[in-house]
Amino acid sequence: MNDDTAHIFTRCIHGGQENCEVTGAVMPPIYTSSTYAQESPGVHKGYEYSRSHNLTRYSFERAVASLENTGITEVQDASHGGFAFSSGLAATATCLEMLSTGDCLLAMDDMYGGTYRLMSLVRERSQGLKPVYVDMSDFSAVEAAFKEHQPKMVWVESPTNPTLKVSDLARIAKIADDHGAIAVTDNTFCSPILQRPLDLGMHVVMHSATKYLGGHSDVVGGVLATRVPEIAERLRFLQNSIGSVMGPFDAYLCLRGVKTLGLRMERHSNSAMKIARMLESHDKVERVVYPGLESHPQHEVASRQMSLPSGPGYGGMITMFLKGDIETARRFLETVELFALAESLGGVESLIEHPAIMTHASVPEESRAALGISDTLVRFSVGIEDPDDLMADIRRALDAC
Ligand SMILES: Cc1ncc(COP(=O)(O)O)c(C=O)c1O
Repeated sequence: MNDDTAHIFTRCIHGGQENCEVTGAVMPPIYTSSTYAQESPGVHKGYEYSRSHNLTRYSFERAVASLENTGITEVQDASHGGFAFSSGLAATATCLEMLSTGDCLLAMDDMYGGTYRLMSLVRERSQGLKPVYVDMSDFSAVEAAFKEHQPKMVWVESPTNPTLKVSDLARIAKIADDHGAIAVTDNTFCSPILQRPLDLGMHVVMHSATKYLGGHSDVVGGVLATRVPEIAERLRFLQNSIGSVMGPFDAYLCLRGVKTLGLRMERHSNSAMKIARMLESHDKVERVVYPGLESHPQHEVASRQMSLPSGPGYGGMITMFLKGDIETARRFLETVELFALAESLGGVESLIEHPAIMTHASVPEESRAALGISDTLVRFSVGIEDPDDLMADIRRALDAC
């Protein structure tokens, strides 16, 4: 189905999908073949080698393209402007290859630590990129950076990992257009159910499919999607040239995950809202950051650009600052039971982590301090368990602190 007017929940099931012409199978087969027989040299059915063409991967790529509203047809691009990779970072790395030596890359100051590591500790050296980091939740900082640095690409995570800052994507897309820069959003925390950056004018969307798209903590993957045919052409070339493609088994798992994405995002968001309100009123908690709370500094922007089809929705990620010190945080993290202490997020099970020690250890200590990633900051990924059980678990652990 390729009907962009269908409800997004319908597109989770049918977007970009067709039943198998041979058997009628409603899920695509997992095409494991690495190569395809040719009738005569160069005469084939459109499939030559699996890095370049794989139908199971195409099915997942087309599903994401449909959810992100690329609007790109099969005539323009075989997978409708969706491209799947072996991890989120492989997707990011391929996207950065659209830049040339010496180009400035304007990036959000707070983002996943691995993205920062790739931009600053790898590509600055190997590709000569010039990353400049600004707080894009403050649009005047974005304007000033465009004036001073003339970036060729702007990279914005919204909400950010882990301080959940929200940036105005429509305004950033507009300024990027005015300056001829490519605007990219890491949409991992929202999934296309809550936020569709291409509709807001962004050129490219990136996801760690390891998170909400896969949704079951059993696959590592990444994806890019674009609404711009020329960018789709470049990404197709780069995906094949660099070769960090998603394998067919992983594509199958991700596609299976996408089928329930709508239901899961509704549950994640509604439970996280309840938990954020409970934490906000708890006396052991210094501060709660959640885009759905009126106290969030960019609550108004978040409400404009993030939502569920059924109403408000702000995702499953919550950041909490505990009263006390690192030992208080350690006790809390060791005491919760339903929340597994683990990196990653976006799965059906609830997870909890300590960014300063775990996911953001590669961000320099001074930068972490400037961003407020302190020793008492704890990040929750709220799963789809019963929210009352999750709240009881958190209360019990807070009482033990
Ligand atoms: C927001 C965000 N972007 C990108 C990544 C990288 O994705 P992956 O771990 O699939 O390489 C992550 C991983 O945690 C993330 O949280």
